[in-house]
Amino acid sequence: MLPVVQVTVKEDTDLLLARQRTKQIATLAGLSNQDCIRLVTAMSEIVRNTLQYASGGTVALNVIETDTGRQSLEVIVKDHGPGIDNLREILSGNFKSRTGMGRGIIGSRKLVDSFSIESTPGEGTRVTLCKVLHTSKVVKATIDSWLEAITKESSLSAVEALQQQNSQLTETLSQLQNSQARLEEQFMLVQKLNSELIETNANIFSLNKDLDSKNAELTERNEQLGQALTELQLSKENLEQLTAQLQIVNAELTRSNDDLQQFANVCSHDLQEPLRVVTNYTQLLAERYGEQLDEKASKFMTVITSAAGRMHGLISDLLRYSRIQSKGNEFKSFDCTTAVNKALANLEIVITESNAHITCDPLPCVTGDEVQLMQVFQNLIANAIKFRTDQPPVVHISAHGTCQRF
Ligand SMILES: Nc1ncnc2c1ncn2[C@@H]1O[C@H](COP(=O)(O)OP(=O)(O)O)[C@@H](O)[C@H]1O
Ligand SMILES: [Mg+2]
Repeated sequence: MLPVVQVTVKEDTDLLLARQRTKQIATLAGLSNQDCIRLVTAMSEIVRNTLQYASGGTVALNVIETDTGRQSLEVIVKDHGPGIDNLREILSGNFKSRTGMGRGIIGSRKLVDSFSIESTPGEGTRVTLCKVLHTSKVVKATIDSWLEAITKESSLSAVEALQQQNSQLTETLSQLQNSQARLEEQFMLVQKLNSELIETNANIFSLNKDLDSKNAELTERNEQLGQALTELQLSKENLEQLTAQLQIVNAELTRSNDDLQQFANVCSHDLQEPLRVVTNYTQLLAERYGEQLDEKASKFMTVITSAAGRMHGLISDLLRYSRIQSKGNEFKSFDCTTAVNKALANLEIVITESNAHITCDPLPCVTGDEVQLMQVFQNLIANAIKFRTDQPPVVHISAHGTCQRF
């Protein structure tokens, strides 16, 4: 440790001297202007306490070596006053002062690089304030040169010292004003952020309302859907019942149709027999007794023969019809042209007699009952030839459609 200077403080003017010396040494030790002000302010607060609560003490300035290998300017303020019994409370920041602001000690602690306070009730108080030096190493000779400089400096009058303190305070005030301006800026920013937040909040609120109404809509739709679903299920059940009924009716109808076909089949077969008898015996009558019959009787015979012929035709048609309605043959793929050719062969005589002109395009292959389709062609061609004018009939057969349907 290198001692620099010591000032005894017993009254307020001593504080001025202590300030002056601290300022001078701090400046000579190379501390920045701001650091000088901080150190002087901290020292002043502690010395004021000494004057106020312990009737004075001493201020000693030293240059010391720190643990980090640097040097510090150390200010020790010491008194033999009553000491501080509630130091822990004061340092915790919870102390409420009856004599001042209660911020002197903890405020000073913030202004320096290292701070320590020792106080023994009844014995006195010792406060140490340090500022780290950033200049080249201070040795005894350096301190001698500082002291020489201080001595040369004309000692200031009390008024001048006050003026100096005043200018320092003004500088501190301007720094405070700067900080206040910055704080105001930040406050404005916070206000702006706040108003943005309020706006966002309002938006969220209205969004929430929208969501609520959408939710209500959705619930309503859901209910409607539920009703529709119930109705659909009912309809489905109805449909199933109807289908079941339809299947029963269909089965009955198929049965009755089968019966009817069987009846028509039997009928047509049974009717053929007596008709053959009528035809045969009418022929026999014509052959054996034809010459004995008069004109009127011959005419009756012709009428009977032609009626019998028509009846034969009707019964044959009925027989064919009942065969078409019956199950028929197993379905297979065949060429329609073959079915048409077979029908034309069956109708050969009628075609020749009527001088009919029948043409046929190339027809597709289909899957079905060839015999039944042949009968369809035969009936259609026969009808065309039968129901016509005096002109020779012209029949053309062709097929339209895709590979699925013709
Ligand atoms: N040197 C001292 N000797 C005795 N008591 C002291 C001394 N310094 C401070 N105190 C006590 O510590 C308290 C806190 O001091 P300080 O933080 O400076 O706030 P303030 O002086 O505004 O009360 C003082 O109120 C006083 O009771
Ligand atoms: Mg105080």
